[in-house]
Amino acid sequence: MTALLPGGVFQYNAFDPYSHAKGGCTVSASLAGSVAIVTGASSGIGRATAVALAEAGAAVVVAARRGGRLEAVVAGIRREGGRALAVATDVADREAVFALVERAAAEFGPADILVNNAGIMPTSPVREIHLDDWLRMVDVNVKGVLHCIAAALPAMLERRRGHIVNVGSLAGRRPFPGGTVYAATKFAVRCISAGMQLELSAAHGIRITDIQPGVVATELVEHIPDPETREGFIERWQDKKPMDPEDVAAAILYAVTAPAHVNINEILMRPRDQPT
Ligand SMILES: NC(=O)c1ccc[n+]([C@@H]2O[C@H](COP(=O)([O-])OP(=O)(O)OC[C@H]3O[C@@H](n4cnc5c(N)ncnc54)[C@H](OP(=O)(O)O)[C@@H]3O)[C@@H](O)[C@H]2O)c1
Repeated sequence: MTALLPGGVFQYNAFDPYSHAKGGCTVSASLAGSVAIVTGASSGIGRATAVALAEAGAAVVVAARRGGRLEAVVAGIRREGGRALAVATDVADREAVFALVERAAAEFGPADILVNNAGIMPTSPVREIHLDDWLRMVDVNVKGVLHCIAAALPAMLERRRGHIVNVGSLAGRRPFPGGTVYAATKFAVRCISAGMQLELSAAHGIRITDIQPGVVATELVEHIPDPETREGFIERWQDKKPMDPEDVAAAILYAVTAPAHVNINEILMRPRDQPT
C-alpha cells in the first residue's frame, strides 16, 4: 500500500490493482466485442478504467511507460477471463503512439474506444519558471493526446464509429495556484474535446467525452517536484476524502456504455469535500 498523506487519505493498492479496482464499477451495458486503448494505464485512473472496461467485456490495450506495471494490470484482467495487452509507450513519442495503435489493431482489431488518460502534473509557482516542467506537461498532456487522436482517428472515420474519451480536469475550467501551466494543458484538452465533438460527432458518428475530475487519490501528487506546492496540496487534503480512481473509471464506463445515439460530452466531478 502507498499512503501519500499521513492518515492514509491518499491510499491505493499498488500491488494488486485488479482486486482493488474490481467492484468499484457497476456495469450497465456490455462492451463485448469492443476494443479499447487506455493510455496512462499503469496506475491511478487509467488502471482502474482499463479494469472497468475489461470487466464490461472490452479487449483492452494498456499503454504507459512502465511496462512492468502494465503487465501486472494485464495479468489481473486475464486472471478474471478478460482480454488485454500491454504496450509500453511514451505518448510524447509520436512514432511510438502510432506503433501502439497498429499493435492494438493487429492483436484485437481497430480501436472502438480511445481513453486519453496519460498525464503529468509537476506543478510549481509560475514565478519559479520551471520551463522544462512546463514544456513536458505540454508534451504529455497536450501533444500526447494529439498523437493518440491522430493515430486512432482514421480507422474510426473509416468505420463511422468510435468513442474518444479525454481525461481533462476540473483544472481545465479554472487554474489553481501553482497549477497554471497544468491547467492550461487541461483547458487545451477541453477545447480539443469540444472542437472534436463539433466536427466529428454528427458528421462522422464519433462520440467525444471530456472527463473533468477534481481531486483523485492517485500517484499524481507524488510527482510534484516543488515541495511548497506538494506539501500545500497534502495539507489541504489532510482531513478530507478525495475521489478514488474507480469513481472516475465508473464515469468513463457510464459514458462509453451510453446508447449509441447518446453523446456524453462532459463529466465534471469533484469530491464532496472539494469546495472549488
Ligand atoms: N489525480 C487527480 O486528482 C486528477 C484530477 C484531474 C485529472 N487528473 C488526470 O487524470 C489522468 C491520470 O492521472 P492519475 O491521477 O491517475 O495519476 P497517475 O496515477 O500518476 O497516472 C498517470 C499515468 O500517466 C502515465 N504517463 C505519464 N507520463 C506518460 C507518458 N509520457 N507516456 C505514457 N504514459 C504516461 C503514467 O504511467 P508511466 O509513468 O508508467 O508512464 C500513469 O499511468 C491525468 O491526465 C491527470 O491529469 C487527475
